[in-house]
Amino acid sequence: MLILGIDTSCDETSVSVIDGKNNILSSIVSSQIDLHKRFGGVVPEIASRKHVEIIDSIFHEAIDKANISKENIDAIAVTYGPGLIGSVLVGLCFAKGLSLSLNKPLIGINHVEAHAMSIFLEKDIEFPFISLIISGGHTCILLMEKPCNYRVIGSTRDDAAGEALDKIAKFLGLGYPGGPIIEKLSQKGNADYVLFPRPMADEDNLDFSFSGLKTAFINWAKRHKISDGNIHHVLASFQEAIFDSLFGKLMKASKRYNINRIVVAGGVASNSMLRTFFNEKAKANNIELFFPSPINCTDNAAMIAVTGYFYYKNGFLSPIDLKGFSRMVIKATP
Ligand code: KG4
Ligand code: ZN
Repeated sequence: MLILGIDTSCDETSVSVIDGKNNILSSIVSSQIDLHKRFGGVVPEIASRKHVEIIDSIFHEAIDKANISKENIDAIAVTYGPGLIGSVLVGLCFAKGLSLSLNKPLIGINHVEAHAMSIFLEKDIEFPFISLIISGGHTCILLMEKPCNYRVIGSTRDDAAGEALDKIAKFLGLGYPGGPIIEKLSQKGNADYVLFPRPMADEDNLDFSFSGLKTAFINWAKRHKISDGNIHHVLASFQEAIFDSLFGKLMKASKRYNINRIVVAGGVASNSMLRTFFNEKAKANNIELFFPSPINCTDNAAMIAVTGYFYYKNGFLSPIDLKGFSRMVIKATP
């Protein structure tokens, strides 16, 4: 079953072809990082213009690499939100054009759900499971009840985890995106150097807050000098405060719903230090923990295609007048 996936929700133009689950025939991701770097973050207008420029060639590259003819595609899965609306619309309109011209079904996919489902590109796991999505735009916990059916059980009240890392890197003038830069600098650091707060850790809910943690970091940096001598330790401490907050709420979710199968995905989940931290704690707490490979954690269209595979198999198709959304309530069964 050949499913085409398209994702243009942020600053990556991505098209993929999969043949059922666990079989990626092609996954092309064209990053715009170099265009946005000098602004310290993604500029929405630049992002959508670039998507328009290259989507057609990325599509052809994905088809060629998969070694298929476009007429053989069974369905077209595309992100219809959440994301930068101008960017989302480029992929969505392109997908609608393909759907009409090839006479193949269109399937609108929620980008956040797709992060949770990205594990099926590599492994079959059983439902129900809990998924923590940690990216630049989102930080939430989903209860994945069965295919195409899930609930949001926790989310950030302000910044996403990746956003907090990106903003601190920008504050320190380290570059963009901040997550991988901070990971690299933290490798040699002592995470016990500063005890940053774990916001909302004591509250009996599954929500997060990272804005206060960011302020705590900035206040610390103003009171103490950050130098070449301590930057590794301070950043390692900041990272660990984020990891600890995330894992704490994940444990609460696991206990509340009595589910110990957990998938952690999204750009921040590609962090090797986070993986070590989570793996050690999961072992101690009898948690079955799954991470997609780093390349499937950051934005990609293969995860859109594999989510589309489940929707197609269950007969959940989208109308051709499907609208795009910048923000979306992550809904259950269509
Ligand atoms: O999932 P993603 O590619 O796009 C969104 O949907 O947001 O995630 C991008 C985010 C950025 O905030 C970036 O700094 C973060 O993921 N990120 C990382 C790492 N690689 C990307 N954060 C921590 N460590 C990394 N290695
Ligand atoms: Zn994403």
